[in-house]
Amino acid sequence: MRVFSRLAGVGSYLPGSPVDNNALVARGIETSDKWIVDRTGIRARHLAAPNETSSQMGREAALKALDMAGITAADLDLIIVATSTPDYVFPSTACILQGSLGNRGAAAFDVQAVCSGFVYALTIADKFIQSGSHRKALVVGAETFSRILDWRDRGTCVLFGDGAGAVVLEASEKPGILASALHADGSQAGILSVPGQVANGQVTGDPFLRMEGQAVFKYAVRVLTTVARECCETVGLTTDDIDWLVPHQANIRIIEATSRKMGLSMEKVVVTLDRHGNTSAASVPLALDEAVRDRRIRRGQKVLLEGVGGGFAWGALLFEF
Ligand code: ACO
Repeated sequence: MRVFSRLAGVGSYLPGSPVDNNALVARGIETSDKWIVDRTGIRARHLAAPNETSSQMGREAALKALDMAGITAADLDLIIVATSTPDYVFPSTACILQGSLGNRGAAAFDVQAVCSGFVYALTIADKFIQSGSHRKALVVGAETFSRILDWRDRGTCVLFGDGAGAVVLEASEKPGILASALHADGSQAGILSVPGQVANGQVTGDPFLRMEGQAVFKYAVRVLTTVARECCETVGLTTDDIDWLVPHQANIRIIEATSRKMGLSMEKVVVTLDRHGNTSAASVPLALDEAVRDRRIRRGQKVLLEGVGGGFAWGALLFEF
C-alpha cells in the first residue's frame, strides 16, 4: 500500500513586537510608510533580539507543531531545517534544534534553498516518508534575516523580517501530500545573493543581501505561475481545484500577479506579508500556521504552497489537509 505524508501539526513564532515602517524611518532609514506599502504591501515586520538565533525561534515553532500533532520530540525520526541564516557554519541548525528539543537519534540536516527552502524541505521530508524509511518528520523554516541586511541599503532592508514556522509530517494511508515540483536556475545566482563567506578568520566578499529587484520580480511571477500548474497537473488537477494558495510572502504585487495569472481569486490566497515582511524560508509555514489556527484552512481542503528566491530556486507542493 502506498504511504503518504500527512500534515499532523503546524506552529510558528515571531520575535518581539512588530516594527512598523514608521519605526524604520525613526531609525534613520531614508524611506516612508507610503513608499514601502505602495511598492510591497509591507506595513511591519518582527526583528530578532541581538542574541536570538534561528534554532531558538525554530524551537518555539516546533513545540507548537508537536503539541498540535499530539507527539513529543522523542517520537521524531527526521528533522529538517530550511534556513539561509544558520546559527553557525556548522553544526547544522537542525542538529542544534534537535539538541534543544531533547531528541536523540533522528536524522537531522539543513536545507539551503533561500526563500523556497521550506517547500524544498517539506518535499524532501515527504520523499523520506513515502519511501518507508521514516515515519515522523519535523520540518522547520527559521530565519534571522535582519543579520544579513545592509541597513544602509533602503532598497532591501525594508523588505525583510525574522521568524520561524514548523510542520509535523506523519506517515499515513490517506493523503496527505499529493504532489510537489522543485526547480532551480543557477545562471540567475547573481540577481539575489549574499556574496560573502568566512575564510581565514575573516568575512571575505560582501556579507549583506544584494538584489536586483526588478529582475527578481519578473522571474518570480513567471516561475511561480508555471510551477503551480505543473504541480497540480501531475495529479490531474488544475488551479481551479485549489482551496487555498499559501505563497512565499515577498511582495503583494508578486502575489497578486501570480494569482491573477493562475486565475485564482485573492480571497483564496493567504497573505501575512503586511505584518511579517519577507521572512524567507519561514514565510510559508508562518502563513500556513496562521490560516490553520484561524480555521480558514480546514481538514479535507486542498492547499498549494509556493516558494521562490535566491539561487534562483523555486517550487510548489500540493496537499490535502
Ligand atoms: N524608500 C524610498 N525610496 C526607495 C526605497 C525605499 N525603501 N528603495 C528604493 N527607493 C527608490 C530608489 O532609490 C529609486 O529612486 P530613484 O528613482 O530616485 O533612483 C526608486 O525608489 C525606484 O527604485 P527601484 O529599485 O527601481 O524600485 P522598484 O519599483 O523596482 O521597487 C522593489 C523596488 C520593491 C524591491 C521591487 O523591485 C520588488 O518588489 N522586487 C521584487 C523583489 C522582492 O520582493 N524581493 C524579495 C526577496 S526575493 C524573494 O523573496 C522572491
